[in-house]
Amino acid sequence: MSKLLVIGSMNMDIVSSVKHFPLPGETIASISTAFFPGGKGANQAVAAARAGADCVMIGAVGGDPFAETLLETLQQNGIATESIIRKSGSSGFAIITVNEEGENHIVLTAGANGQLSADDAAAEAGNWSDVFAVLLQNEIPWETNLAVMNSAISNGARVFYNPAPASAIPEEVLPLIHTLILNETEAAAVTSITVSDQNEAMAAAEWALDKGVEQVIITLGEKGCFYQNKQGQSVSVPAFPVKPVDTTAAGDTFFGAYAAASAEGLAAEKALTYAAAAAALAVTKKGAQASIPDKAAIEAFLLSQKEQ
Ligand code: RIB
Repeated sequence: MSKLLVIGSMNMDIVSSVKHFPLPGETIASISTAFFPGGKGANQAVAAARAGADCVMIGAVGGDPFAETLLETLQQNGIATESIIRKSGSSGFAIITVNEEGENHIVLTAGANGQLSADDAAAEAGNWSDVFAVLLQNEIPWETNLAVMNSAISNGARVFYNPAPASAIPEEVLPLIHTLILNETEAAAVTSITVSDQNEAMAAAEWALDKGVEQVIITLGEKGCFYQNKQGQSVSVPAFPVKPVDTTAAGDTFFGAYAAASAEGLAAEKALTYAAAAAALAVTKKGAQASIPDKAAIEAFLLSQKEQ
């Protein structure tokens, strides 16, 4: 039971670094523009694989030249891509601007991701017998996510779900979710509780646990993260202080690294600390998948923090 199945989006990110975000109607010059493989699903798969997990990706790419790059990047990270489907039309892409503080604005075009149907996912998921968890996000159709959640439950696999980009979750679906990972915006969309500190994170986590989720993780950026499970165990883990260059994919890196650490059998606090270290390293580099650290880098960083 050690494999991770990631079902989700693959995007080509077109990233412009800017001094500040343009105002409505304003035209500004970029400092630099580059293409980076991204997409929340693929980023999480890369984060999990670089953290040491055995990882399979199910998703869709289009008929454009971006598709090859998106597939090759996953393959270079040892991720199984045989279940990625080709659709007509374009691959998914994201237009991203990153300011001098490392914050981003993202405009998404779903492309092939929007065509990944429940039947596609069911056909490709195949044998669930050695799946530790399936990782899901919100950049493929909701009906596909829901069908995958139900298949995972019938086959005894855990559902790890990050509802990003943020949207509400129908309450009857919450009992299908083993691990719900939310940032502040996603926590507000799911629970209607404003979350900006550890106490509010606890209130939001308790709301979701009451509705049937097994464990909840709320990430609070530089304020760290909060974890609580159904049995009442709670853990707070501080963030590692770093100077952000580009926060794109920090959440995806946290999620993928956490899933990999959990699949390896690490208990909550250790897995969260490992994920926090991976996310801290990711924000110090530009790009989505280009910024995601591997196991050796994460372990070296953790060691360096202990020695300080
Ligand atoms: O979470 C970051 C990702 O969001 C980017 O890689 C972009 O593709 C969008 O999906």
